[in-house]
Amino acid sequence: MDRIRIVGGNPLTGNIPISGAKNAALPLMIASLLTDDTLTLENVPHLADVEQLIRILGNHGVDYTVNGRRERQSEGYSRTISFSARNIVDTTAPYELVSKMRASFWVIGPLLARTGEAKVSLPGGCAIGTRPVDLFIDGLQALGADIDVDNGYVVAKAKNRLTGNRYVFPKVSVGATHVLMMAATLARSETVLENAAREPEVVNLAECLNAMGARITGAGTPTITIEGVDSLSGARHRVIPDRIETGTYAMAVAMTGGDVILEGARADLLQSALDVIARTGAEITETNSGIRVMRNGAGIAPVDVVTEPFPGFPTDLQAQFMGLMTMSKGKSKITETIFENRFMHVQELARLGAHITLSGQTAIVEGVSKLKGAPVMATDLRASVSLVIAGLAAEGETTVNRVYHLDRGFERLEEKLSRCGAVIERISG
Ligand code: EPZ
Repeated sequence: MDRIRIVGGNPLTGNIPISGAKNAALPLMIASLLTDDTLTLENVPHLADVEQLIRILGNHGVDYTVNGRRERQSEGYSRTISFSARNIVDTTAPYELVSKMRASFWVIGPLLARTGEAKVSLPGGCAIGTRPVDLFIDGLQALGADIDVDNGYVVAKAKNRLTGNRYVFPKVSVGATHVLMMAATLARSETVLENAAREPEVVNLAECLNAMGARITGAGTPTITIEGVDSLSGARHRVIPDRIETGTYAMAVAMTGGDVILEGARADLLQSALDVIARTGAEITETNSGIRVMRNGAGIAPVDVVTEPFPGFPTDLQAQFMGLMTMSKGKSKITETIFENRFMHVQELARLGAHITLSGQTAIVEGVSKLKGAPVMATDLRASVSLVIAGLAAEGETTVNRVYHLDRGFERLEEKLSRCGAVIERISG
């Protein structure tokens, strides 16, 4: 198993190209199941999760081609991929595939809407909590689906097409918003989703669906209205830049000091996180090419954060922010409200010398003047990158084990960081 070796202490200086967003690319790829035409996606990041979803979609009969040369603007990282679901050969998503990547459960919406049936394995829990699927089931039932849960599978049927309805999410869910929005595009009549997720990835998906001929308004607000159509066509659509990757590198610079331009990043996708990073003492400015993050000399100020659905501070940056706070000049309080078990990084940060105490869903971080490198274990995607950030600022050598977690969501992490002066390398085997 690969490891990442870091020798900390260098400031980061230079340019980091921001890749297409994993969490936008995945639902967009799944949207290809809604049409027998070709959906071409630009700026698709090269990540283990994307490759896994390509395999899962292939199981349903989706063909894909990777087009053209690599894009110059993003320095050869992201790709343009065309997906064609002309023939759906299988409407079952088996446990072996769904258990590897939770988002693959989302195929249930398009498969059901397009073919009238879907049998999708329950995804099960994961490192960050139990993660139920009750909202998907309730919501699809509200659109007229017959649903049974049988032998670990959700079996959904809508023989006479889904029917539009009003559905109020009892809790904000990104995935359930994606799925109901996709399903409703092909339903009879109008669907109104209330208390919908407002994440930029939902907006990116709605724009793609509209380019495919859907009639969606209100994406990005709590109320999304979808006027069902008989069929969707192909389209060409661009994946938005990854706001979590952006925030991660911004926090890395805030921690190590330095001056970095995050190329292609969009501040409007993560304003609440940028505001928090600025309050820690980093200087953040928007430039023509992206976002510039600088921190010189002065220490890191402690800031309290509470994770919230968009536009609040994202749960996917909580671990990284905790990494930053481990070296603040004081005490900060970090409260996780989205997932029940998203503090797996606490024990590992402690191995680097961090002082963190947990009380329920809140972590109190008492900043220390220095961290010391150590071997640490990655537990999930965002937790593992928080260890990388801390390792970049720690004295001496840090080895992050189980790097496959990082490969799920960070494109060429060690290359991007080492080009900015970090001492970081992958050790194979
Ligand atoms: C998406 O997950 C992201 N994944 C997550 O990023 C992100 O942390 C999360 O949204 C929140 O922003 C992708 O986009 C692929 P949710 P999702 O449904 O859609 C509960 C990463 O690191 N819930 O918005 O699965 C759920 O348990 C990943 O890139 C129900 O109770 O998250 C959680 O407490 C991790 N019932 C809350 O809602 C349901 O049926 C929000 O989860 C569905 C969700």
